[in-house]
Amino acid sequence: MRLLENNIQSYDFYIDKENMRDEIIKGLSDPVKVISSKFLYDHRGSELFELITQLEEYYPTRTEMKIFNEKIEEITRAVGDVHTLIEYGSGSSNKIKALLHNFTSLKEYVPIDISRDFLFQSSLELAMQFPHITIKAVCGDYMAPLTLPLEAAGKKVIFFPGSTIGNFEPVDVRKFIIKSAQLLEDGDGFLIGVDTKKDTYILERAYDDAKGVTAAFNLNLLTRLNRELGANFNEKQFEHLAYYNEEKGRIEMHLESQCDQLVSIGEYEFLFRVGETIHTENSYKYAIGEFQTLALECGFKPSKVWTDDEEKFSVHYLEK
Ligand code: AVJ
Repeated sequence: MRLLENNIQSYDFYIDKENMRDEIIKGLSDPVKVISSKFLYDHRGSELFELITQLEEYYPTRTEMKIFNEKIEEITRAVGDVHTLIEYGSGSSNKIKALLHNFTSLKEYVPIDISRDFLFQSSLELAMQFPHITIKAVCGDYMAPLTLPLEAAGKKVIFFPGSTIGNFEPVDVRKFIIKSAQLLEDGDGFLIGVDTKKDTYILERAYDDAKGVTAAFNLNLLTRLNRELGANFNEKQFEHLAYYNEEKGRIEMHLESQCDQLVSIGEYEFLFRVGETIHTENSYKYAIGEFQTLALECGFKPSKVWTDDEEKFSVHYLEK
């Protein structure tokens, strides 16, 4: 690609090696049918998620933004003289702009995202808006081992907003935090947004809104499988289900079959009994102390935490 600004570089590490079809067929063949939440984000799914973030019931995005706006001075002080800011899954240009404006010592910004077009487009915008910062756009999976194009010197901080960490299973979340610690040196930091445990009613309405946007987001997965894999799901015969599993501390999303039915993907056939579900997402919630303990066990010192008045959402600064 032709770069229009001289403070932007691009690196492409993304190989589409995971075969979506194999993974979907494997998950639907399990006794408890499951599809990874990463498949919710095709083009339409990303649009629908954007609409979710604007819903009255969906408090996380708005609350996190409020914390960044209101606590930016304290956050800036805690982060200190950061040289390199690395962002995992850079879908949140509003949040990053607040940081880039305030972190005056910053020399390079390294957004990592698998969505190539979106990454390069937003990087270009940021490069124009922040001409003194070198943008190193990395197209890749931040879960995979990546050799990041970082300058050796200077303080590094990883930024991971949005409570995306909630999608990791307990075993994986530990591996992920440990891996992040290994990218860093003593004194570097991790700035991360985490949704908190709270009243079941508030949680459940955030994932089952009155306008049915979250339902459309969940059901869009079936539309995607029909289009991309030639499946023959009848979307009208499935219903969106979202509930808080208090014992596991997570919101679960499912698609529930409304009748006995057979669905095929190529030569594979899947039987759905009435009431049977496909488990499509887990969104784990962490009490503040619980997340600090987790961070400590994975190689970080919990240094600061900011919340809103009702502790609906938390932003943690962890130090290596
Ligand atoms: C993007 C993973 C943070 O778990 O709240 C929103 C996804 N799913 N509504 C979340 C989601 C249903 C969201 N994350």
